[in-house]
Amino acid sequence: MSDLNGKTVVIVGGTAGIGLATAKAAAAAGARVWAAGRSEAHRDKAIAAAQGAFEVREADTHDAEALAALYREAGGIDHLVSCAIGGERTLKPFLQQTEQQFQAAYGKLWGYAKAVRVSAPFLADDGSITLVSGSPARKIKPGQSALSCVGGSVENLVRCLAVEMAPVRVNIVSPGTIDTAMFDWLGDDRNDRLNAMTAGHLIKRAGTPEEVAEGILFVMKNRFVTGTTVDVDGGRILS
Ligand SMILES: NC(=O)c1ccc[n+]([C@@H]2O[C@H](COP(=O)([O-])OP(=O)(O)OC[C@H]3O[C@@H](n4cnc5c(N)ncnc54)[C@H](OP(=O)(O)O)[C@@H]3O)[C@@H](O)[C@H]2O)c1
Repeated sequence: MSDLNGKTVVIVGGTAGIGLATAKAAAAAGARVWAAGRSEAHRDKAIAAAQGAFEVREADTHDAEALAALYREAGGIDHLVSCAIGGERTLKPFLQQTEQQFQAAYGKLWGYAKAVRVSAPFLADDGSITLVSGSPARKIKPGQSALSCVGGSVENLVRCLAVEMAPVRVNIVSPGTIDTAMFDWLGDDRNDRLNAMTAGHLIKRAGTPEEVAEGILFVMKNRFVTGTTVDVDGGRILS
């Protein structure tokens, strides 16, 4: 395993949830970490969580100039991670979605593609890229066609990049249901509804962002892993 000590880790979508947990874990392992996101609210929480252990910056994954400024300030990249949702999450049967809703889901793919494309001149040859997909990519359920199609595209993009960008390693971490800000819309019933959503999974609870971050650090550090999908999903795709 390579050591993260002194390595530069840039996390697009690193100001909340899985990205923030990854920023904390990488910084704890000795990395120089830059975590970026759009909203001041998330950035303020991330700055408070960082306690000076990592840098927090503003960047939208759809803004190439902001990404380039971030990568430049980081002074090169050993490990790039993107967790930025970047698109709409429409949970409806395909025929009940508008064409615009279905297309808007692909914002995630375009954001990931931009984060990677802009990073190329900054990436170390022995570095890595990790993109976060999600279990709907391979666990097909009614009402999730937008998430499934985008997740599948992200996973295929990663395999293409792994082949084309070697020796840079490119991997996917695929979470199941994880208790993050993504579920803030559940409101006061949050715990009950997350429990109901995960009752049929092999591990009957929502995962934590820290559990997913551990998967991200694994693919970052292991020099023999590329083009791989690491599922951190409590067995969701088997249930
Ligand atoms: N939580 C789950 O159950 C779950 C399951 C499967 C897959 N995933 C995937 O895992 C990834 C991380 O999700 P999460 O649960 O950690 O979500 P989260 O807690 O909502 O965090 C998302 C992070 O991405 C940032 N972000 C969103 N849009 C962005 C944009 N356009 N440009 C830059 N940053 C952006 C957010 O900050 P700002 O909003 O301030 O920009 C925040 O820092 C996503 O790709 C998500 O689809 C999550």
